[in-house]
Amino acid sequence: MATSIVRQLKSSMTVILPVLLVIYGVINSISCAQSKPMAIASAHPLATHAGLAILDAGGNAFDAAITVASVLSVVEPQGSGLGGGGFFLLHRADDNVDVMIDAREKAPLAAYQRMFQNEQGEVIKGASTQGPLSAGVPGLPAGLVYLSEHYGRLPLSVTLQPAINLAEKGFRVSPRFRRLLQFRIRQMTVNNALQTIFQDQGQIPAAGFLLRQKDLARTLRLLSTFGWAGFYQGEVASLLVNGVQAGGGIWTQADLDAYHVVERKPVVGRYRGVKIISAAPPSSGGIVLLEVLNILSGYPLEIMTSDLRKHLIIEAMRRAYRDRAVYLGDPDFVQIPVEQLLSIDYAAGLRVSIQFDQALPSVFLNGPLAGQAGGEDTTHFSIMDHDGNRVAATLSINFPFGSGFVAPGTGVVLNNEMDDFVSRIGAVNGYGLTGGEANSIGAGKRMLSSMTPTFVEDEQRIVALGTPGGSRIISMLVVAILELTQGADVQAMVDAPRFHHQYLPDQVQYEPGALTLAEIKALQLRGHRLEETSKHYGDMQAVSWQKDKQVMTAASDSRGEGLALVK
Ligand code: GLY
Repeated sequence: MATSIVRQLKSSMTVILPVLLVIYGVINSISCAQSKPMAIASAHPLATHAGLAILDAGGNAFDAAITVASVLSVVEPQGSGLGGGGFFLLHRADDNVDVMIDAREKAPLAAYQRMFQNEQGEVIKGASTQGPLSAGVPGLPAGLVYLSEHYGRLPLSVTLQPAINLAEKGFRVSPRFRRLLQFRIRQMTVNNALQTIFQDQGQIPAAGFLLRQKDLARTLRLLSTFGWAGFYQGEVASLLVNGVQAGGGIWTQADLDAYHVVERKPVVGRYRGVKIISAAPPSSGGIVLLEVLNILSGYPLEIMTSDLRKHLIIEAMRRAYRDRAVYLGDPDFVQIPVEQLLSIDYAAGLRVSIQFDQALPSVFLNGPLAGQAGGEDTTHFSIMDHDGNRVAATLSINFPFGSGFVAPGTGVVLNNEMDDFVSRIGAVNGYGLTGGEANSIGAGKRMLSSMTPTFVEDEQRIVALGTPGGSRIISMLVVAILELTQGADVQAMVDAPRFHHQYLPDQVQYEPGALTLAEIKALQLRGHRLEETSKHYGDMQAVSWQKDKQVMTAASDSRGEGLALVK
């Protein structure tokens, strides 16, 4: 009933909105001087500008999130899109509620535990990463509709319009876009629809090429007009199911009918007086992040030498990522001992096994045994509005350009998120992550994620942050929060050099320049195996409200091509 009233109100808004926007513009220009600023940081300037225009037009942070997410699905299709999913961490100022909208993809109903194994029980190379069999049932379209119906102020016809315009009129291809498209060049020979959309006369388009996506514009328009049913039923659904099946996938209409988002309670913890609100399962992000910080809370890091500090951070990451592999999966299918994993006593127990002068090889940690972390896929944005509402959203289609498959006529690049499941106990996925029973494939199950949209709060400030980067997402959040609690400003936090350990492979990965020669030697002496990554990784986006000084700041990772704006 309430939802139908909201729908009616919103549909009448479509008619009266232009008038309201003019009135709002007049009032806004008068009241702007006294009101709180607003900010958006996203991975693409067009998304940041479109989101700010929606805030300017009277939308709240949740409306802006719909706009930013949908624009990113058009201009950054290598990272996220309607064919994928993600997590929206929300704070609603009116009633001080924090909630996570879980729009993670689900395994289709015909999926089963050994679907990516051959008769010998070996994992079939590429089966979980290429083509429609690797695609989970998308969650982002349902997430956008849910946000609009339950949290937004403006109708989808307004919030999705910038994405529709950009899909129709086109956007200029960047060098980064070109580089990531190369990654899916082989898939283009298999999937005509992908090739037709993303090639210019049989070639990867040149930087600056105007890329138009007519089919995607039509799909977005149907979503805007019919809401959930515009994607999960009717014409788009038929094209998706037929296209997937013709390409060797196993989706049916029943899979699309069954897809709904879930509201979940975020995980909450404290580190040095700072409150951390983060992603709940089926993301592993919040639990692993808090577990690392809980372990580290027992050490006086600020008075230690930098090599000892990094050694302890690495050892804490090793143990928390090991627990990821053993315990974490879809909470609707498996019992996760969240309370235990987040307890201070448990962290103290883990500290007992950490030696200051020696690394503990991961094989002694007794978890599933089996990889390289990666990740130029996925995307993140952070938003705060005038009223104190905020959003941290991390969205993904998994690998760059997902499965490399587009169902003809839809314009939607499908994810290859099925690879985030464990294809065989102990085997590694595309990020080198291993896992056990908890994250094995099951019909209708959500695959475990590392996406970690997070809020950090203390007396002085509130920060919303997150980043893409596969399994390294969580360690990037660890590094960022440690920087923040040691006094860094948000830009310094976002740009801080990164290092990573994920239990297996048993190695420390670090960005060029992240470790000094002296630190490298000292870590090697303790027995750490070190691997410098070929380039910098991650694309963190953060906004921060300094309560005591009443100052809003925003920061976009200098490694990416994003934009952070405060208004
Ligand atoms: N697909 C990357 C993740 O969800 O962790």
